[in-house]
Amino acid sequence: MKPSSLPHAVGLTALGTYVPSKVVTNHDLAKIVDTNDEWVVSRTGIKERRISEDNEFVSTLAFRAVDNLVQKYGSAVLEGVDLVIVATNTPDALFPSTAALVQSHFGLKAGAFDLLAACPGWIYALSAAHAYVKSGVCKKVLTIGSEVLSKVVDWTDRTTCVLFGDGACAAIVEEVPDGYGFKSFVLGSDGLGGKHLYMKCVAPSLPDGTMIQDKLYMNGREVFKFAVRIMESATIQALEKADMKLEDIALFIPHQANYRIIDAARAYLKLPLEKVMSNVERYGNTSTASIGIAMQEALDTNRIKDGDDLLLVTFGAGLTWASGVVRWYHKSF
Ligand SMILES: CC(C)(COP(=O)(O)OP(=O)(O)OC[C@H]1O[C@@H](n2cnc3c(N)ncnc32)[C@H](O)[C@@H]1OP(=O)(O)O)[C@@H](O)C(=O)NCCC(=O)NCCS
Repeated sequence: MKPSSLPHAVGLTALGTYVPSKVVTNHDLAKIVDTNDEWVVSRTGIKERRISEDNEFVSTLAFRAVDNLVQKYGSAVLEGVDLVIVATNTPDALFPSTAALVQSHFGLKAGAFDLLAACPGWIYALSAAHAYVKSGVCKKVLTIGSEVLSKVVDWTDRTTCVLFGDGACAAIVEEVPDGYGFKSFVLGSDGLGGKHLYMKCVAPSLPDGTMIQDKLYMNGREVFKFAVRIMESATIQALEKADMKLEDIALFIPHQANYRIIDAARAYLKLPLEKVMSNVERYGNTSTASIGIAMQEALDTNRIKDGDDLLLVTFGAGLTWASGVVRWYHKSF
């Protein structure tokens, strides 16, 4: 493609979501592990989460999130999609990729790959989609964050099983009118912190010798300290890269892991409560889907208008983090 015909601005043009119908409250969890509603609410802000059925997997949730896109915007929303990226930590299989399953399910003429970057995976996927479209390699990318962490958490470990929920989001990234779209991305990683949050795949241990147990392991206190620090710095870096100030941001949409982490970042950044989106109370931490699900709720409740600048910031295993600023474009398909 000639440089003159490359898109000037690339952004999000459509968003869909799906969460399983089964609601599991803290009271339900108190029947299977030694916990209680008061502890979970006071330490995390989470009251309930959605849990997938035995026959629902990451591909199932991804299909439903794309169905939701089509219901809202019509079938034209998928026309011309030439790449599918699925961010997930719990794919149906290592291969085929879940992205390939999505491509064939919807009959798309598109390339497909999965992306693994823990909870920040969907923001990594958005940044990749942005780069593919901006460079002219692709024109329209379907990005998905889909997660069934309930299938890999240790349901006997009260310190982790209360935190997570299942869900999916799907969004289109393509050219948008000048002035709209992505203004910045920040991607970061500190693999030395890998030992604080991990899940087994092939190797018995990490390179530092940490033995990897079968189920998801987390050192909550270490992750908490990292999360608060990184939410603040990644927010400031995303603003600097976009040449913007915090006051320019209409809505701050952080990773929905723990309300205390969100509120600590909010207090440090001196953001008013009404500028911070949180629905962790009802979904828990849905990992790669959490920002998309929160963004959808903000759209549904008219907290996002055409032209609003949104700040997205997230953290997770790796340790990894990602942030970015996007100006919302309300497209009619
Ligand atoms: C996990 C987390 C909620 C724990 O909160 P905390 O205030 O750090 O709690 P602690 O780990 O210090 O545990 C305090 C006590 O509560 C207990 N406890 C832990 N989970 C409990 C539960 N679900 N119910 C009741 N008690 C619990 C602990 O065993 C500990 O008891 P002890 O003092 O007798 O040993 C918090 O560390 C956290 O949110 N970390 C970040 C996790 C995260 O975001 N992960 C996702 C990354 S994408």
